[in-house]
Amino acid sequence: MKGFTRVMYAACLTLALSRSPRIRVRSSMIRSMSSINSLDSDLIFSPPRFKSVYNSAAKYLDECGVPDAKSSARYLLCDAANIGYRLSDFERNRDLDIELAPIEIETMRLYCKQRADRMPVQYIIGNWDFFGLQLACKPPVLIPRPETEELVQLILDSLRNTTTTNNYGQEQGRGRERGGDRELRILDIGCGTGAIGLALLHELKHATCTAIDISKDAVTLAQTNAGSVLGEEAWARRYECHHMSLEEFVASDVGRNALGMYDIIVSNPPYIPSSAIASLQKEVRDYEDIRALDGGADGLDVVRQIISKGPALLRSGAGTGTSATASDGVEVGVGEEAREGEGRGRGEIWLEVSEEHPDAMVTTLSPLVRPTSSSGTSSSGASFSSVRAIRDLSGNPRFVHITL
Ligand SMILES: C[S@@+](CC[C@H](N)C(=O)[O-])C[C@H]1O[C@@H](n2cnc3c(N)ncnc32)[C@H](O)[C@@H]1O
Repeated sequence: MKGFTRVMYAACLTLALSRSPRIRVRSSMIRSMSSINSLDSDLIFSPPRFKSVYNSAAKYLDECGVPDAKSSARYLLCDAANIGYRLSDFERNRDLDIELAPIEIETMRLYCKQRADRMPVQYIIGNWDFFGLQLACKPPVLIPRPETEELVQLILDSLRNTTTTNNYGQEQGRGRERGGDRELRILDIGCGTGAIGLALLHELKHATCTAIDISKDAVTLAQTNAGSVLGEEAWARRYECHHMSLEEFVASDVGRNALGMYDIIVSNPPYIPSSAIASLQKEVRDYEDIRALDGGADGLDVVRQIISKGPALLRSGAGTGTSATASDGVEVGVGEEAREGEGRGRGEIWLEVSEEHPDAMVTTLSPLVRPTSSSGTSSSGASFSSVRAIRDLSGNPRFVHITL
């Protein structure tokens, strides 16, 4: 089929099939159809049945050197055929070996070409699950990662650490959130898709979140996701997202009015050392925003800003006068165990960082940790009651928890 004819054919199919309940035609896909004539003709799905399309797509992606060729083919086909993303959805349709509509075949061809160019699956299908929420994903905003789900879970576990036991000695679910009915105020620095803040708001009904990001694309996407996760009414009440850096936020009216107000600062900042950017996977390097990845010479540029500026924004943190001491030159280091119970009710900082960072952070920050017996700021000017490194589920140091 000649290029122009094929574009017209695709456009007519798009219109003709858009009323069919099984066919979901995306505007992005319609736009992409205009480039379909530039695709190679080496990816033919025949017969146009589920199993054959899946096998051909997986083989094609593998031959193109795509990592995770099979799972890529699975997600792309599930989306192209609009059948849901669960493994059971895939298996049921594979067993039925359903016949795909021409528009679905064309979509699948386009998807495979994009994946062969190493575009991440999440950007191709336009969404991904994070902590049970489906979030819109759009290049170049960073795709939320599974480790970050662990960070959310750590915060929730820490807030709900009062498990109750009933008369039969059985655990009765998780305890109330710390702070009871009081509003819990969260600051999400570098919100990206909004993943961390929105997952926390979804779980913590008394929480509100201020999110900031230097990327306009991220702010727009986080607002879109807030609408779909929280509902239009609640997102305006519980979530605000500002296009600014942490420095700009602190200097702004919003930031000045929020001094000493936040219970939790959370961030998954850019933390990859600049020298390591070139060796990242093509999917990451070519499609995700460099500003979401590059953390400067040692990966800690934004972390230092958070440790420097963050305490003044936290409850009980304003006025300690020690945050400047903690900031510049601090490389972050060794671990002192967090003192169970101490610091409860004080503001906290939760960070996701690179494997090399947590232990180094604990070491560097330990001179700023108050002795166990003291309360408030010590004569040494220490500003934190605890600093601890936490490992991820794979056993790698990954998170840092700082309590004022
Ligand atoms: C690693 S991404 C994390 C995105 C999201 N929080 C997540 O976990 O999926 C880091 C984000 O921080 C933003 N960012 C980088 N420097 C920043 C700064 N100085 N102030 C605020 N945001 C910043 C980037 O634009 C990017 O969206």
